[in-house]
Amino acid sequence: MSTTIREILKFNQEWSAQIQREQPDFFERLAKKQKPELLWFGCSDSRVGPDQLTGLPHGSIFVHRNIGNIFATNDLNSLAVLEYAVDELKVPNIVVCGHYGCGGVHAALEHSGIQPVDLWLDQIRFIYNRHADKLEHLSKDEQWKRLTEYNVIAQVHNICRSTIVREAWKRGQTLAVHGVIYDIHDGLLKPLGIEFRSFDDWKEDRLSSHFS
Ligand code: CO
Repeated sequence: MSTTIREILKFNQEWSAQIQREQPDFFERLAKKQKPELLWFGCSDSRVGPDQLTGLPHGSIFVHRNIGNIFATNDLNSLAVLEYAVDELKVPNIVVCGHYGCGGVHAALEHSGIQPVDLWLDQIRFIYNRHADKLEHLSKDEQWKRLTEYNVIAQVHNICRSTIVREAWKRGQTLAVHGVIYDIHDGLLKPLGIEFRSFDDWKEDRLSSHFS
């Protein structure tokens, strides 16, 4: 056994013991049913784990993460997570969280290719191309930041555009979709001012003013 896995097991034992000391029925309660408050759509980056940065208790967040926090409408994994979270768990909130310093967004700006990561990140390159007029005059660092924000906005729209979310809104389910950015330099979440709570809410904003 490597040192790392031994440490993980040790941390795990301490964590479990601490929770059982503080809330003896905690695991038993959670084992019966999960009732998360939100679906988190984030980047796989090791520095942006939603449990740590939101401080929400264990069992609060249903999570999907991938490189560049992309909700791809042709990705069965993303769709299945969204469907289960909305239709079965009935989460009242979906948060798309991008982060400054995202290697995925940086790679999308820097190069393209035919490896799996390159092909995946083409989805961010498309966003750049669609908004090139607002991005190309910026410095490289500014482009990186702005494209990170645009990517979150685009993914929020992709989620709202899905039949899963639209059907939920149509049947009157409480569901808000938000876009935020996490700053790895200070640990703070910054709202992007993009938040949709109904189909009409989203429809009005569709050709978005958020891409400024
Ligand atoms: Co990232």
